[in-house]
Amino acid sequence: MSASRFLAVAAFGLLCSAQRPFSTSELIRDPGVYGPPLELVHLYYDSFPTGIAVSASGRLFSNYPGALDQNDTYAPGNGRYTIAELVSNTTESPYPSAAINSPPGGAINYTTYPPSGAGYSDYFIGSQSIVIDALDRAWVLDTGRVQTPNGTLVYATYGGPKLVGITLTNNTIVFPTTVAFPDSYLNDVRFDLRKNVTASGKGVAYITDSSVEGRNGIIIVDLGTGESWRHLDGHPSVRPEQQYLSFQWGVPLYANNAGKPFGYNSFGADGISLSADGETLFWKAVGSRYLFSIPTARLRDNSATSEVMAQGAITNHGQTGQSDGFEVDSNGYIYHGNMEQNAIGFFNPANGTDQIYVRDPLINWVDTFSTGTDGYLYFTVNQLDFGPGFYSNAGPDRRVKPWAVFRVPLPYNGTKVLLC
Ligand SMILES: *[C@@H]1O[C@H](CO)[C@@H](O)[C@H](O)[C@H]1NC(C)=O
Ligand SMILES: *[C@@H]1O[C@H](CO)[C@@H](O)[C@H](O)[C@H]1NC(C)=O
Ligand SMILES: *[C@@H]1O[C@H](CO)[C@@H](O)[C@H](O)[C@H]1NC(C)=O
Ligand SMILES: *[C@@H]1O[C@H](CO)[C@@H](O)[C@H](O)[C@H]1NC(C)=O
Ligand SMILES: *[C@@H]1O[C@H](CO)[C@@H](O)[C@H](O)[C@H]1NC(C)=O
Ligand SMILES: *[C@@H]1O[C@H](CO)[C@@H](O)[C@H](O)[C@H]1NC(C)=O
Ligand SMILES: *[C@@H]1O[C@H](CO)[C@@H](O)[C@H](O)[C@H]1NC(C)=O
Ligand SMILES: *[C@@H]1O[C@H](CO)[C@@H](O)[C@H](O)[C@H]1NC(C)=O
Repeated sequence: MSASRFLAVAAFGLLCSAQRPFSTSELIRDPGVYGPPLELVHLYYDSFPTGIAVSASGRLFSNYPGALDQNDTYAPGNGRYTIAELVSNTTESPYPSAAINSPPGGAINYTTYPPSGAGYSDYFIGSQSIVIDALDRAWVLDTGRVQTPNGTLVYATYGGPKLVGITLTNNTIVFPTTVAFPDSYLNDVRFDLRKNVTASGKGVAYITDSSVEGRNGIIIVDLGTGESWRHLDGHPSVRPEQQYLSFQWGVPLYANNAGKPFGYNSFGADGISLSADGETLFWKAVGSRYLFSIPTARLRDNSATSEVMAQGAITNHGQTGQSDGFEVDSNGYIYHGNMEQNAIGFFNPANGTDQIYVRDPLINWVDTFSTGTDGYLYFTVNQLDFGPGFYSNAGPDRRVKPWAVFRVPLPYNGTKVLLC
């Protein structure tokens, strides 16, 4: 090209671009939504919920951990409860009774120093999960721990940490103090009721210990004998990452440590799901973006070599975003929050990849999932990260009631997995 022709083309280009609009309306922007629209199922105007469980007939249940909101710690006369049924679109009722949600004298034993969780096996102290198993039975996982009015998380006392099968006459499994330590935090539970997984033939439960004090591990329960044991204690896969920092809606989520300088989110193994065939267990720490799994046979084994065998059998599936609860469907997909994307994602074990299923600005902290036999994925969105447990320059408690349950249809006619 000659020099004069080049100058003519350049000048023409300048003239044309001068006529182009100068406005952000020309720019593509994040649409904010993706996937099937959210269907509103319930609004909570009272206690602060984390879990959601849907029964085969569509009854809905939630838990309210006094460990995460001191106003929900049961004290005589304050009418609080840690387990409730969602009886209308906007109201809840203590479940299975107000009495079992009302430990005599309250959830905290103030006669010990320091105060401790009341050691009652016949009352709920502070529940972190309610889960419906394949036989449509409700199970309550009690941490035995709650917060005092000044935000101190008390240690558990024997009798407090337990797994309670509600629909059975008495199927309370109390954990020994060598399985649930005083500073354990029994977080979430999954059931495999297949007869062949144990000698006793009544199935097993797998439980995460998310203890912010660092007692992280996985607890296995033989539902036939009531025996329980731990694996992977303190292994990096159940621990939060050092100096882990995530964001929600642009705000960094540092941990608010009552009476101390703020620090990092130190929640360990929390979200948990069995694979659709029950042969693999998936989990993740809240303070980590890495997804891990292990063959369940390695966890059920409690022989002399079982711990080293278990540690050698862990798979790291890479990063899948920030999550709390997990759930599986009949497609085999492992659903989980991807909160920093205002989203729910799923990991497909068949091809090893993770993707987004739903995005919506209504989504913040996606706490817990429950798949229904009606083909829907139910989940709570509870602003946990806007609450007093997280430090923010924007203020100590930015939560705004109500909190919500939503549902979306499962893909490819997916439904609840029934391992029995
Ligand atoms: C607890 O209740 C008190 C009194 O009603 C209220 O001022 C405070 O904001 C509540 N705190 C939380 C975390 O909800
Ligand atoms: C609950 O919400 C559903 C869906 O919007 C509605 O059909 C139903 O009438 C509501 N129930 C009550 C008791 O308000
Ligand atoms: C409270 O602590 C005292 C002193 O350790 C003990 O005797 C009592 O059984 C405890 N009560 C409960 C409900 O845990
Ligand atoms: C149920 O069983 C547990 C554990 O054996 C025991 O501690 C508790 O007292 C029993 N509760 C009732 C109501 O029988
Ligand atoms: C249990 O039985 C199922 C078939 O019902 C089989 O697929 C599975 O491998 C068995 N698991 C064990 C641990 O034996
Ligand atoms: C919180 O209150 C308990 C008594 O209820 C007390 O033992 C503890 O020292 C207090 N902690 C702080 C940080 O004030
Ligand atoms: C992995 O599987 C999911 C679910 O079937 C699918 O949406 C995705 O496209 C697959 N990814 C790849 C890379 O094949
Ligand atoms: C879902 O089930 C319906 C009715 O059985 C069927 O018509 C439809 O093709 C199925 N959809 C998918 C994606 O499998």
